[in-house]
This record gives sequence, structure tokens and C-alpha cells, in this order.
Amino acid sequence: MKTQFNIGNLEFSKPIVQGGMGIGISLSSLAGTVSKFGGLGVLSAVEMGADYPNYQTNPKAANRQAMTDHFKQAKAIAGNRPIGINIMVALTAYEQLVKDAVQTGYDIIFAGAGLPLTLPELTRHSLTKIAPIISSKRVAKLILKHWWRHYQVAPDAIVLEGPLAGGHLGFKNEDLSPERLAQQALPALIPGVLEEIKPYEDLVGRHIPLIAGGGITTAADLRESLAAGADAVQIGSRFVATTECDASQAFKDAMVAATKADIEIIVSPAGLPGRAIHNRFLEEVKAGLRQPQNCPINCIKSCDYKTAPYCIGLALIAGKAGDLENGYVFCGANADKITQITTVEALMDELTQELD
Ligand SMILES: Cc1cc2nc3c(=O)[nH]c(=O)nc-3n(C[C@H](O)[C@H](O)[C@H](O)COP(=O)(O)O)c2cc1C
Repeated sequence: MKTQFNIGNLEFSKPIVQGGMGIGISLSSLAGTVSKFGGLGVLSAVEMGADYPNYQTNPKAANRQAMTDHFKQAKAIAGNRPIGINIMVALTAYEQLVKDAVQTGYDIIFAGAGLPLTLPELTRHSLTKIAPIISSKRVAKLILKHWWRHYQVAPDAIVLEGPLAGGHLGFKNEDLSPERLAQQALPALIPGVLEEIKPYEDLVGRHIPLIAGGGITTAADLRESLAAGADAVQIGSRFVATTECDASQAFKDAMVAATKADIEIIVSPAGLPGRAIHNRFLEEVKAGLRQPQNCPINCIKSCDYKTAPYCIGLALIAGKAGDLENGYVFCGANADKITQITTVEALMDELTQELD
């Protein structure tokens, strides 16, 4: 099994993509370090400037400045290796963030949590690569067909995010029951997506790498996905439990402390199910005690504060900062297997042991 992989001219010595994690969980420290050690580090574009002094008075300016600052810092840490950015389609500022990321010089944009149908148009004439995040063969087919028909463009890579992933999920609630999860192991979803990609590889005359993620925790999980035909894996939760992760110590400790019984499916104001660590804040949300009185951040297109059960922007900013009275921690289905905080380098070595 090969350890290296590439996305066009971007080369990686380890088949590991660190999934973008917002708000503020994967910024320059985590992403830069992952890229430094041969993987692909990915920042999250959601409210990147949340801890900038001018965020309260001018969030747009703070976010834009943070997108540039974190790019430069990540590149410096990574010794100029490739750096990606994750921009959720559900964000109100999605189009502008994509344009800003291209202008800043990010090597690749990952876009999910919605269908990134216009991504080729938004990135046209740029060197920035584009990779949709999909959760099924059906959505892979839809995006491939749409991009080809409208833009004669094929993706530079595709991320398949299975139902065990952390954060927002592209699955219906009924597909997330323990019984259904047992039937939808990530490696089993890979061949169907490869089938959809193949005709487009023939059309463009290049390989379109498939990156599979969701619940990958051990070297054996990684090898299983590669054996099923993935070129690389995408990992989120395990990277939270690293010294270099940009989240607070309390956020990382919550990831390490989580037991199977703590991991639950929640409904996000983005209208998608998500997976998170149970806490009192989430209980209060269910009891209707956290309904927002206004919309201070305007982060998600489809969110209406009058009907939203809580303000996800404020909750995630609080969570990152370690205020788990007023926020919470997204996590993958196997977060209970994470037992310690380690370094990015040690984690990447552990995950790639026994690869050639
Ligand atoms: C704390 C946290 C925040 C996340 N934020 C985002 C995000 O902003 N955008 C996104 O597309 N995916 C997000 N994800 C999903 C990750 O990028 C990744 O695909 C997923 O965590 C993989 O599953 P794993 O955690 O089991 O490894 C998040 C995941 C976690 C754990």
C-alpha cells in the first residue's frame, strides 16, 4: 500500500488529509503542522477572526484579515507545503469566502454541507484546486455531472464523508441509527463512488483522487479505506486531540473524556444532523432554553433565529474557547476511542505505520 498521494501537482508523503474544523478548531497551528509532516492541513473558513480584537465591531474585516494571517502562518509552519481551506456551502458568506480564499492563494478549497454546484465558476482562471465533500454515490454523480455539463470541469479530488464523521452530516436521521450505521461501513461506500468518478477520469485524462473519512481512528482503519480504493483518508476528531490543535485545552479534554454513551446526534440550525458530545448546554437546547433573541453573526444561510433552537455561531465560538456551559464539541462516532492528547507528528506516524 502506497504512503504517498498527490492531487495534481500537489504532493504528499502521507495519505492523510486533516478535515477542516470550525469554528476555529483547525487554523494555522494544526493545519500548518499537518502539512509540515507530509499530510494536507486544512483550515476552516467559518468566522476565522472570532478571536481578533476588532471582531465585535467589524467581523467582516476581522475574518478577512484572519484568512490572510492564518494562511501565511500555516505556510510558514509547513515550510511552504500545500495548505487547504474548508468552506461550507451553507455559510451566508460562502461565495465571498471562496473568492477571498482564491485571492489569498490557498492551494485547495474543500466544500460540503450543501452542494457546491457553482464552485468551478467561483474559482475559474485560478490555480486553486477544488474538491467537493460528498456523502454518497448519488451526490458524487450529481456534482460530477453538473460540473461537467456547465463548466467542462472535473474535481481535483473528492472527499467521501461517511456516516461516522464528526460535525454536520450529509445523512438523514434514520440512516444514523446504530443498525443502519452497521450496514454502511466507510470502505463499503468507496467502490460505488469510484464507479462514478471513473468516466470523468477518462474524459479529463487524469486521476481524480478519492479521500475517504468519518470515524477513522487507527492505522487499521486507514489501511482498510486505502485497500477499498481510496487514495487517502480525511481525519477530524483525532487531530482535535493534539497539542497543536487550535482549540482550547478544555475542548481537547472533552474529546479525550468522551465515552460511547456521550456521543449523540443533534439537529443543527443549519438544518442538518450533526454528531457531538452530550453536555448540559445541549440538554438545555432540547428543553427550549437556548432560543436566540437575535442573530448576532448571520453565519448560516438557512438559519432563522426566530425558529432556531440556539445560535450555532455563538455556541461554537464558546466551545472553541472552552466555555462548555455555553457551547459544545462536535466529534466523530469513534471519539470514545481517543484516549490521549499527542503531537501531530506522533499521530501521523502512528496512523501510517505498516504502510510501505
Ligand atoms: C470539531 C469538528 C468541527 C468540524 N467542522 C467542520 C467544518 O467546519 N466543515 C466541514 O466540512 N466539516 C467539519 N467537520 C468534519 C471534519 O472535517 C471531518 O470530515 C470529520 O471530522 C471526519 O470524521 P472523524 O472526526 O471521525 O475523523 C468537523 C468535525 C469536527 C470533529
